[in-house]
Amino acid sequence: MLVFLPLSMGDDIRAQFKAWHKQCGGLFSIYFGTKLVVVVNGFKTHREVFVYKAAFSSDRPRMFLNEAIGMGETGIVFSSGVIWKELRYTTHQILKEFGMGTNLLAERIQEEVICYVKKLVEMKGKPVDPQHFTYVSVSNIICSIMFGRRFSYDDPRFKKTVDSLNRVSECARGAGAINFLPFLKYLPGDMFKAKKIQLNWLSVKKVLAEIVFEIERQGKITAKKRNSGNYIFSYRDKQHENKQIGNATCLDDDNLLKNIIDLFAAGTETVASSIVWCLLFILHTPSVQTKIHEELDREVGQERQPTMEDQARLPYLNAVIKETQRLSNVVPFSVMHKTSEEIKIGDFIIPKGTTLIPNLDSVLHDPEVWGSDAEIFNPDRFLDKDGNVIHREEFIPYSLGPRICVGEAMAKMELFLFLSSMFQRFQFVAKDSKNLPSLKPNIGFTSVPTAFEILCVDRFKKTEALV
Ligand code: HEM
Repeated sequence: MLVFLPLSMGDDIRAQFKAWHKQCGGLFSIYFGTKLVVVVNGFKTHREVFVYKAAFSSDRPRMFLNEAIGMGETGIVFSSGVIWKELRYTTHQILKEFGMGTNLLAERIQEEVICYVKKLVEMKGKPVDPQHFTYVSVSNIICSIMFGRRFSYDDPRFKKTVDSLNRVSECARGAGAINFLPFLKYLPGDMFKAKKIQLNWLSVKKVLAEIVFEIERQGKITAKKRNSGNYIFSYRDKQHENKQIGNATCLDDDNLLKNIIDLFAAGTETVASSIVWCLLFILHTPSVQTKIHEELDREVGQERQPTMEDQARLPYLNAVIKETQRLSNVVPFSVMHKTSEEIKIGDFIIPKGTTLIPNLDSVLHDPEVWGSDAEIFNPDRFLDKDGNVIHREEFIPYSLGPRICVGEAMAKMELFLFLSSMFQRFQFVAKDSKNLPSLKPNIGFTSVPTAFEILCVDRFKKTEALV
């Protein structure tokens, strides 16, 4: 099937993919410009391609978003082969170590949640743009993990990084076509925002490189700081271990910096948008908020902050989070893969070097899996008749196979700790109940809600409680 070039990976392409999935089944191939691409649809085909044939379907194609930063094939998100395997293993190990024992991850997230809730309390029920606040706060969690410290929301370097990263995401919404027709980036007037992406990436890179340098210098001066727990020191320890044993390693300075940039980019908008989508769905289905409040008041109360230990006691909230992730599908086309060898799927041969687009919509919105109301927000679909959470294998917002999101555990912790504290403290109310904000997403690399304002009404009687 030959297709004309889409100028952006927007809503139209989502609807079109849905129609072709229905018409052609699990796999269809299309031309984006001159480039042949295979789109993967439905849970069984996803599992076949990305799990059973993972050994040959886990590379990445060249992508403009990566090339624009000018660091070659460094970093966990866009690298392939042995380099990716080592960067992935190292990052996974570090995040796992942070999530064990004293659970540094949960501690850092909770610390940030307190600041975030405080900021919303200060708004005294006036309209706020939840997207901005949430984005800033979530990116601070990555800072806290990467650097061992959070930043004040007014810190100029932090603000600059967050703003530039935000601009990269905004511009990326119109730049998908450059992946397939690279000459588009040279068109006059920066039509596809290639230059803007480049400039903002360079600004993110510059500030983060400075911070890494400072943290390392301080760490060398005070040995105590090395115990404060951060990604940089853990990375350096692993690099050192490899050298001691005499193992060849790609853990060098460039990969450290690029990993930090990658984790920032991959871990900010995804989580922040999921939280904001949840608020938006709640405005459209107020009865869900009432049930969340009832469950939280009964199981946690108002005297203490919710913790990860509360998760098992809050099945309804967990179902709301799952349903939010299913319906919002914040990374609708996942991240593109590339075959490293020819693979055979049923009667189809996919040649070596083919770009694969995982169409997660085709799984998360599949009526054959979720029922005829698959496009409707209904958390009850994740609860059994006794009110326990149902775990379904088709629930794959983090993708599946060896390239599955490396931040999944951290993201789940963030979503739970943010949303439980937010609903404990606030009643979220629409600014204009007769004119609810739009559910139409802005699609780029991620699916972001259209900007809106919301009122956060304080539910606590005693204002001195918790915050
Ligand atoms: C709701 C939150 C999130 C969602 C829905 C999500 C989803 C995804 C998806 C769909 C992929 C592509 C997987 C593939 O290529 O098959 C991915 C990759 C990735 N994610 Fe996430 N993600 C989330 C949060 C995070 C967080 C918090 C971090 C960082 C701490 C993170 C770091 C990464 C990285 C580094 C990759 C690339 C993995 C690789 O190439 O091996 N993500 N994520």
